[in-house]
Amino acid sequence: MIAGGRSRVLLMHPILDPGPAILAEAAEVISYPPDRPLDEANIRQAAEGCIGIVSQLMDPIRETVLSSPGLRCVSNVAVGFDNIDLAAATAHKVMVTNTPGVLDDATADFAFTLLMATARRVVEADNFTRSAGFHGWAIDMMLGQDVYGATLGIIGIGRIGRGVAHRAKGFNMRVLYYDPQPLPQEAEQQLNATRSSLDRLIAESDFISVHVPLTKETLHLLSTAQFNAMKRNAILINTSRGPVVDEAALVEALKARKLAGAGLDVYEREPAVHPQLIPMPNVVLAPHIASATVRTRSEMSAMAARNMATAVRGGRPPNLVNPEAKR
Ligand code: DGY
Repeated sequence: MIAGGRSRVLLMHPILDPGPAILAEAAEVISYPPDRPLDEANIRQAAEGCIGIVSQLMDPIRETVLSSPGLRCVSNVAVGFDNIDLAAATAHKVMVTNTPGVLDDATADFAFTLLMATARRVVEADNFTRSAGFHGWAIDMMLGQDVYGATLGIIGIGRIGRGVAHRAKGFNMRVLYYDPQPLPQEAEQQLNATRSSLDRLIAESDFISVHVPLTKETLHLLSTAQFNAMKRNAILINTSRGPVVDEAALVEALKARKLAGAGLDVYEREPAVHPQLIPMPNVVLAPHIASATVRTRSEMSAMAARNMATAVRGGRPPNLVNPEAKR
């Protein structure tokens, strides 16, 4: 909708340079009040008269918001868009865009960071050393797990999963992957990766790293049955979406030592973390920062702003996830 001749865009949260300048060139940008709750009714009210919303993963963009008259585009500053009801967006002819590609390396790096940190007890060791626990070398102090030569199971072999497999090559790991879509043979050879069933991956992996989007099919993909079938030394890494892992079941499995540990960047009820995970020394917890490098977050901001600017100008945004919504 035009206000004083310019289209209006609602910016839900600040983004990094050069995002704001790209947006400001295309539209009048209204900022969502930072102290206002992030619920659908409030977002709908704030989006009144806006042609677009630049959202982030904590914003519930569903029917109430998507039915706002004049809304044409929601540009999510993330590759995942499970916070947006895609079917409702398409029904209301609201284009949805995301930021694929630019965060693959940062996220794969961080999955590997969590893997190494959990395997070699880095956070526990740091706390121990800082709290003056180190009184001398001991042969059995802080024994961890070997990463080099271990078996890594990758659930979801999209761009980020492939990035993790690529890094695993340097650690001479055997890589099993589970994905409905097989890799081309050439890529399997290049990554030294073997496609497997989920059951086999679970049974044979020393490390399991999750890289699937959150959908109806992947909700609680890992729950009690899967934890029961894991190797006792297995370590679970999740940098995808919290609800892919049944968090209560994970807590029970960790307590029962069905697996050895977990490195988690995402949670089922973010920003809440299951309280029983907090005191567990064999769990490394991060606040959803896998893509948080200066370069990556600024590229995500620029990409989301360009998607929105293109939509405002009546074009087809480069990272449109529901092409059927284009008028
Ligand atoms: C995403 O992009 O979906 C991540 O979770 C945040 O970078």
